[in-house]
Amino acid sequence: MENNKMSVVSQNSYRPLKLERQKSYRELFHFFLDESTPAPEKEKLSAQLLQRELHQIDPPSIPLPDEPVQIKDWLFQQNMQNCERYQQYLSRRQAGGQREYFQHVAAAYDFLVKVAPVKYVDGSWLYSTLKHWSDPNFQHLIMIYLEELGLGSAKANHVSMYQQLLSSLNLQDLVEGLEDEYYYQPVVQLALAYAPQQYLPEVIGFNLGYEQLPLHLLISNYELAELGLDHQYFNVHITIDNLDNGHAHRSVAALEYAYSQAANKTEFIEKLKRGYALNDVGLGSTEIIKNSDLTPLIEKIFKKKAVVGKLIHNNRCRFAQASVNEWLSNDQKVVEFLQMLQDKQWIKRGQHPSESRFWQLIHNEEGKMFGVFSVAEQQIIYDWIAQAYTERRAPFKAVTPVQQADDYIVDYFNSSEQQALQQQLKLARSAEEKINLLLPYLAPHQHHNPTGLWATRQLTQFLFPQALQQIQ
Ligand SMILES: [Fe+2]
Ligand SMILES: [Fe+2]
Repeated sequence: MENNKMSVVSQNSYRPLKLERQKSYRELFHFFLDESTPAPEKEKLSAQLLQRELHQIDPPSIPLPDEPVQIKDWLFQQNMQNCERYQQYLSRRQAGGQREYFQHVAAAYDFLVKVAPVKYVDGSWLYSTLKHWSDPNFQHLIMIYLEELGLGSAKANHVSMYQQLLSSLNLQDLVEGLEDEYYYQPVVQLALAYAPQQYLPEVIGFNLGYEQLPLHLLISNYELAELGLDHQYFNVHITIDNLDNGHAHRSVAALEYAYSQAANKTEFIEKLKRGYALNDVGLGSTEIIKNSDLTPLIEKIFKKKAVVGKLIHNNRCRFAQASVNEWLSNDQKVVEFLQMLQDKQWIKRGQHPSESRFWQLIHNEEGKMFGVFSVAEQQIIYDWIAQAYTERRAPFKAVTPVQQADDYIVDYFNSSEQQALQQQLKLARSAEEKINLLLPYLAPHQHHNPTGLWATRQLTQFLFPQALQQIQ
């Protein structure tokens, strides 16, 4: 699933959070994903967070109709509009138009890094529905969740897929340097993962928005493929989220079922709309692409290198009245150093990178700094230097080879944790007891680990055995 930016909600600006125990969304993100934190504590914080977020939403401003049948038609229209806009995009490209999202590989890398926190919790907003596994009302939502988890296959688990994508490109370390605002939407999703039962209409509303096909997904998928990058993660969201029989379809079916059961339908729709509006909290993909700027990413890469770099240069190695070690001594100096390299023409932006002495130092095999920057970092530096030099430039060919998720091998059988779980399952006296033993292993922090994948497969076998037969 992908973030769908269809509604026009004005509450999406980043709000620094002041809760008692946590200071930032990044810390809350790690709080929810900390395996040592008991679930009741997560549920308590979830209720606080959701109350705060939902309180700030004004339901009449949300363009979702008031009746399920109208909602279904409205979503269909939105879907058609996005498909038409995608066709227009393709026509522009076929007529010789430039890429509209990712000018170069580094812009795609910048995007992949910035959306990583939200991709690392893909599907999480439905975790709270699992405890209702015996209630047929929840079967669509639970099936979506299990499919987000790849039905227990590492190759198909969306979080594993994204982790694998970033590690194959050697980009995972850059996620660590992301600003707090990139953790806002993922924290909302994790709050929904641990939402108390009264928030079910909001969960359904959020899911309804998130499972629709957004235009940015179609274009991102196209341009990532065009740049020679692995786009499987994005492609899978175009196929399994489809409105005909995929997640978008299931999300509408879940809404219709829950609506038919709701005692107070007006209140249900209002809560549904609030949940839907949570899709627009924080930064969305389109906004991230639009605001892409490589300079902050370059600064982060240099600051990261400076941690070691400030200690290893010879003190005779000087640049504009200061030693390189001094230039690298703190974050502010690193930024100044980067500017100095440009002022002194060691980096000539807007020209072919081979014209820059700094590039020669880091890229040529005989260069004194060869090997300091990874292939991914070199790609980002290359595109940053060449940025304005787009017409005659030959593309840099150092993109890390695509590593398919098939290479990702999980050893299902070596985990002592899993052996302990298997033992507990053997001792359980009923299917109900077994299922309840499995559920915690499908939590957002756990489901993509070997035991979580195994538990997901077992749970799918209990609840939807026919789904597993289809993939065998
Ligand atoms: Fe997904
Ligand atoms: Fe989905």
